[in-house]
This record gives sequence, structure tokens and C-alpha cells, in this order.
Amino acid sequence: MDNFNFHSPTNFIFGKGTENQAGKQVKRYGGTKVLVHFGGGSVIKSGLLDRVKASLAAENITLIELGGVQPNPRSGLVYKGIEICKKENIDFILAVGGGSAIDSAKAIALGAVYDGDFWDFYEGKRIEKALPVATILTIAAAGSEGSMGTVVTHENGMLKRAANGDPLRPVFSILNPELTCTLPPYQTACGTTDMMAHVMERYFTNTKNVEITDRLSEGILLTIIKETPKALANPNDYEARANLMWAGMVAHNDTCGVGRESDWSSHNLEHELSALYDVAHGAGLAVMFPAWMKYVMHQNVMLFAQFAVRVWGCEMDFQDPEKTALQGIKRYEQFMTSIGMPIRFSQLGAKAEDIPVMVKTLGLGNKTMGSFVKLTEEDVRKIYELAV
Ligand code: NZQ
Ligand code: ZN
Repeated sequence: MDNFNFHSPTNFIFGKGTENQAGKQVKRYGGTKVLVHFGGGSVIKSGLLDRVKASLAAENITLIELGGVQPNPRSGLVYKGIEICKKENIDFILAVGGGSAIDSAKAIALGAVYDGDFWDFYEGKRIEKALPVATILTIAAAGSEGSMGTVVTHENGMLKRAANGDPLRPVFSILNPELTCTLPPYQTACGTTDMMAHVMERYFTNTKNVEITDRLSEGILLTIIKETPKALANPNDYEARANLMWAGMVAHNDTCGVGRESDWSSHNLEHELSALYDVAHGAGLAVMFPAWMKYVMHQNVMLFAQFAVRVWGCEMDFQDPEKTALQGIKRYEQFMTSIGMPIRFSQLGAKAEDIPVMVKTLGLGNKTMGSFVKLTEEDVRKIYELAV
């Protein structure tokens, strides 16, 4: 196991009715004038936004609303949010919604205390500070409620890029599983795919002797595999929703990633799909992950066989571990299909003729990406082709 430093200071407030604590928590963390940031309207329709506003009003906290974040959040609204924060002296940002609203809020939090262009941080500038961000989560998926990351698409070139830094970890996150009961089945399944991907990006590693994080990862994957069909069959199944909601958090706050190298190539490959076709991140991952697995499995066939046996219940073939490894990938694909996810370009609406564009926009040039296997531009092209 590698050395590590793990600082995850977010206060998680989990359970029924917890959104009504929003005002008290904002006050506790020093917010006096709050930007309430949300998406395309689900939080208005569900009445959540009204409850949050009432909770803030009860603590005499001033607020400005900024809605309209779209999935795969865009730079335009971020610039608008930064301007509001600077003009209105906002000192706290509360995101109400999913990963997109949260990531947009984190981007605004960066830009609000920076004189330059917020996009600098998405091009690698080190993150030193940000306004405090808190979240009220409505979908178990991206894990941004506990992560140090934000992913935004710049409209100039449709570049989808991530920025990471400790100041971006939310100060508190309110997780009420009831809020996720209104999710359409497709979004529930996209969330499942993303959570599983966050675990698997960490699971497939070259770091040895990481039994603790292997086992934690397998436990999270097994939970997601068991609970997702329940939530799809009965969207109001509170216990299934609760298990999925916490799974999404632990899948990505790095509990499973500490002390081991993680990869992230599948995520980078996917970001080109969601930037080009504006598809859901989870759906793009369901297409890219199996292609990546097939391409890199020979790096450590025994690890893929372990994944097949422990996560998918395949029988170990000691004479032919590659067969077991391939069975695991197959079972992953079957599970994706069973929850309504695409597993090939055509099911997603992606086109083989766009592969050169995606490879170019990814912009590897002579560099490589990933750590389990360091991928060149040529490898990237071949992986996209495997997904067709
Ligand atoms: O916009 P509204 O109207 O709220 O509708 C949303 C949106 O259409 C809807 N929705 C959310 N909660 C709902 C609901 N509909 C009904 N009932 C509810 N309770 O679901 C749709 C998707 O929402 P979105 O926020 O886009 O989903 P998700 O949480 O999957 O976020 C995806 C974004 O997160 C990024 C992705 O790249 C993508 O841009 N990621 C962020 C990460 C991070 N910050 O650490 C890591 C991830 O790997 C990921 O890349
Ligand atoms: Zn993801």
C-alpha cells in the first residue's frame, strides 16, 4: 500500500427530512448571504427548493437564486454565477440537485475568489481557495457531495474538463434518500453506472497488497448491484435508495482509492462522448468501461479474474484465468443491459466516424493517460473502436 494523506472534512447529514436543517447548517458554517444554485427545475417541481428557502429564511439568511444548470454543466452559467457572487458579496454557495448543480457551484466558488478566469483551474492551475460550498443532493451518482472534484464543459470548444482540490470538498452535504425517489429509471441507472465506475477506476490498479480497499470496493459494488434493481422496480423503496445514496458517496470521496494508484482513463474517454453528444455521463461510462476493460485486462488478468469471482460470482478457472476475466466483463455488460444502459456506440447515438474528432479533442498528443495501462493516442483510438 502507498503512503497517503486523506482529509475528508465534509459533515454528512443523512436521512428523512434532513433538508429542513439547511438554514441551521449554513449558519453553523458561517454563511450569511447565500447563492442557491440548482438545475433545470426538478427541485422546483418537487417542492424541495421552497423547503430549503423556508429553512434559510427561518435563520434570517439572505439568498439569491440561480437555477438553470444543465446536465454536463456549462461555463456560461458559471461566469454568470461568479459575477453575481462578486457583485452581491455572496459568502456561501448552496447547491441543490445533482452532480451538475454541485459541480457548477464549485466552479463558481473558485471563480468568486479569483481575479483571473475560473477556467484556469480546469487547465491545471493549483486550487488554493474557494468560497465554502454545501450540497443538498437529489441523485446518487457523481459523488460530488463528498469529492474534491468538479467537471465543467467550456462552451468555447465544448471542452469537458475536471478540476480537483481540497477546498472544493463541501463543508456539509445533506443526503435525504427520499429526495431521490422522483428520479426517472434512466437517471437512476445512469447514477448506478457512474458510482460503479468510480469504484472500478480505483479497483484496477498496479499497486499491490491493498486488500482493505479491494474488499471495500467489492462490498460497494455488490451493494449497488443488489440495490439498483430494487430501486428500479419500486422507485419509492426508501432502504434501496438509502443504500445507493451512501454507496455513491463512499464510491467517490476516495475511501476506496487511498494508498493505491487509480486510473481514470474510462472517465476521460467518456467525457469526450458527453461533450460531443450531450449524453448522460453514466450512459457514456456504460459504453466506455467494458471497452477499456477488454483492452487493458492483460496487464493483470488475475485482478480481472478476482473481480469476476468476487463481484460477479463467476467460477475461477485456474487453467484459463483469462476466460474467467472475460466472463466478469460479460457479466458487467449484462448487468448494464438489465438496468437499461447502452453498452455500444450505436445504442448511445455515437458514431464511429466521430472517433478521430474525440481522439483529437482529448488532446493527448505525445503524452499518455491513465496509470493501470498508460494509453497513447493510438490506444485511445482502438478503445473507442472496441466500443462501436
Ligand atoms: O436539472 P434537473 O431538473 O434537476 O434534473 C436533473 C437532470 O436532468 C435530474 N434529476 C436530478 N435529481 C432528480 C432529477 N430528476 C428527478 N428527481 C430528482 N431527484 O437528473 C438529471 C441529471 O442530473 P445531473 O446533476 O446531471 O446528474 P449527475 O449527478 O449524474 O451529474 C453528472 C455530472 O457530474 C459529473 C459528470 O461528468 C456530469 O457532468 N461528474 C462529477 C464528478 C465530481 N464532481 O466528482 C465525478 C463524476 O465522475 C462525474 O464526472
Ligand atoms: Zn463519474
